[in-house]
Amino acid sequence: MGMSKKKSAAKNVKRKRQAGASSDGFASVSASASASVKRDSSNFVPFGGGILRGKDTCLVIGDGDFSFSWCIARQYRKCRFSANHLVCTSYDGVDAATKKYGNVATECIQRLKESGFCVQHDVDGTNISAAFPSRKFHNIIFNFPHVGAQRVHENRALLRDFFASARKRLHPGGKVLVTIKICPPYNGWNIEENAARSHLILTNVVSFDAALYYRLGYRHRTTKADAVKLQNVRDSKTFVFQKDPRFDVAV
Ligand SMILES: C[S@@+](CC[C@H](N)C(=O)[O-])C[C@H]1O[C@@H](n2cnc3c(N)ncnc32)[C@H](O)[C@@H]1O
Repeated sequence: MGMSKKKSAAKNVKRKRQAGASSDGFASVSASASASVKRDSSNFVPFGGGILRGKDTCLVIGDGDFSFSWCIARQYRKCRFSANHLVCTSYDGVDAATKKYGNVATECIQRLKESGFCVQHDVDGTNISAAFPSRKFHNIIFNFPHVGAQRVHENRALLRDFFASARKRLHPGGKVLVTIKICPPYNGWNIEENAARSHLILTNVVSFDAALYYRLGYRHRTTKADAVKLQNVRDSKTFVFQKDPRFDVAV
């Protein structure tokens, strides 16, 4: 005799869970992802005890469809961190973001807001103080900064001005985390030199665990909707900068 309907439904749910799918269409935190978070917690960005702690505040700059913010937010919720401690921003206005990135952006923004996280649009990473004049953060994250044109000097300038702006909004001992690919042309953007101009020194470089982030629901987005997507984000690194203690004066 064949398997009962109940047993077969239970098997399907189990199979879906193993594949990381959830009923709401977002990837769920699979057992293997959680294991990976624990395994990598000493040097993993931005999840895990190594980098994020409950009291740490975190500002995400230049998100695309907010899938990255939402995947961190879910970790915050899981760890019962305060929603106040995560601020998610896009350079795009809300209409531009939802037009470019469709339902995923709409849903991520809605979920973030419903869960109490701060979502702010039109935030210029080169002038963070304009959006947050009196707030400082322990972590300021900018994944795959890009002006939307393959112009090396413009992307270098974006990095340079972002570092200058981020430094002003960083708590003592805070970190600026920038993820980029490490192949041409990105490795010509002089990330370390541009950070050093703002007296930020490189303190760590960790692999961007694309497989884990993708399991958690992140999808890489381009600045322009019709741009050619990165072939993959697997060989990307997160560069971690902190204030050079020799110049760590209040600004
Ligand atoms: C390649 S996309 C990456 C998007 C998203 N961070 C991700 O990982 O999918 C580059 C992002 O940089 C943003 N961006 C460009 N100039 C910016 C600026 N001055 N301030 C903040 N974000 C900026 C774009 O709006 C876009 O979202």
